[in-house]
Amino acid sequence: MDENIGIGLLGLGTVGSGVVKIIQTPNGRNPLVGKLSIKRIAVRDLTKQREASIPQSILTERPDEVIDDPSVQIVIEVMGGIEPARTLILRAIKAGKSVVTANKAVIARHGEEIAIAAKEAGVYVLIEAAVGGGIPIIEPLKQSLGGNKISRVSGIINGTTNYILTRMDKEGADYSDVLKDAQELGYAESDPAADVEGLDAADKIAILSGLAFGGAINRDKIPTKGINSLNNRDVNYAKRLGYVVKLLAISERHSKKQNKNDSLPLSLWVEPTLVPEKHPLSSVNDVNNAILIEGSPIGQVMFYGPGAGSGPTASAVVADILNIAGIQMMGLHSSILDPLLSGSSWRKCHLAEEAEINQKNYLRLIAEDTPGVIGKIGTIFGQRDISIESIVQFDASEEGAEIVVITHKVNKGKLKAALLAISNLSEIKDIASHMGCL
Ligand code: NAP
Ligand code: HSE
Repeated sequence: MDENIGIGLLGLGTVGSGVVKIIQTPNGRNPLVGKLSIKRIAVRDLTKQREASIPQSILTERPDEVIDDPSVQIVIEVMGGIEPARTLILRAIKAGKSVVTANKAVIARHGEEIAIAAKEAGVYVLIEAAVGGGIPIIEPLKQSLGGNKISRVSGIINGTTNYILTRMDKEGADYSDVLKDAQELGYAESDPAADVEGLDAADKIAILSGLAFGGAINRDKIPTKGINSLNNRDVNYAKRLGYVVKLLAISERHSKKQNKNDSLPLSLWVEPTLVPEKHPLSSVNDVNNAILIEGSPIGQVMFYGPGAGSGPTASAVVADILNIAGIQMMGLHSSILDPLLSGSSWRKCHLAEEAEINQKNYLRLIAEDTPGVIGKIGTIFGQRDISIESIVQFDASEEGAEIVVITHKVNKGKLKAALLAISNLSEIKDIASHMGCL
């Protein structure tokens, strides 16, 4: 009898190659790694140059062949994209095979469908690599923090953008130049728009919220703003004011009561945000991610580490494989440990209106350099009961004066109305930028 656990991979790119590397070098690792045996790998292009350690005979351009191979017991989906990845995951489940995936785009949109199918089939779908790269965050949320009432999940959950922002902050580098480096380092998605437009972070916060608050999140309703229109000027002004700009993903219980259907209201958003230099998230640099969980009775706990890249992500994938392999080797039926390892949904959640998101704000206004303009801006905020933390005039040039305002917490609806009134002032030429602020 073959004592090995047969592994089939869908994809052999940045993450897939990292997984193969770990499995092919078991020395010094958990003994179970030595029991994993790669049987089949699906790729898009068979003619591509691959590592010499990968026999051409196990490669195929037909993912179905990986799933149908009787020697494959666990299917690893690391090809990315929504389709055919979703269909292949469901097909593997139907074939009675457990799945490990790093694909947050699929899980954020089809996680519930996949979890239900897995439960019915009595198999696992594990997703540790889908959020935070090498940081263990999925299993801690599902298991170790299970006794808490979570109030907020926030953090830096995209490595590419954090790498770009760090270099913009430290070197004054240009965003598009640094993006190329992030792609070469294997951090970015195949279409890096997903990173820089904040979509990848929105996928991840949807997944984390589902686990933290116990109900599926409508991914398409998450207000999302990326760093693609971020100006070096704002990074610079933030620094002068004692802040660092980070792309934050935030999910919190909304103050509104649960509605009649007992659905929990949440506020979720992704946005470039000014983080005070003293805040723990401000020193999370380069490709690192950090996720801050707040709840009762735990208080605050922060998970930190490399958020993207071949090795760290493969580390999370292999951890999931070992979880499943361990159970299979003990001959346990997967439902024995359910819901500790498989997806579970025990409550309904819904997103509160975007206008109800309550936060501090950073605003940069271009105005005529004339007396009284700061007073007029202050009056508009005051009339709407919006409290200003600071208002500073920076450079005055032929383009005008740059006025930077930091507000106290205010809901987005109220702020929008104030900004409309400000933009109608004859002295205001532009509301050049608007970000969140912690
Ligand atoms: P990648 O480098 O682009 O690799 C994708 C792999 O899938 C390639 O080997 C490609 O084949 C293969 N592939 C794509 N479409 C296929 C198809 N239709 N049929 C067969 N094979 C196909 O991507 P990656 O960076 O490894 O990312 C993979 C997944 O992990 C994505 O869901 C991503 O979001 C997630 N993830 C990535 C990271 C990271 O740091 N990169 C971190 C966490 C999660 P070829 O080699 O022939 O092109
Ligand atoms: N492109 C993603 C990132 C990969 O940069 O965070 C890790 O999920």
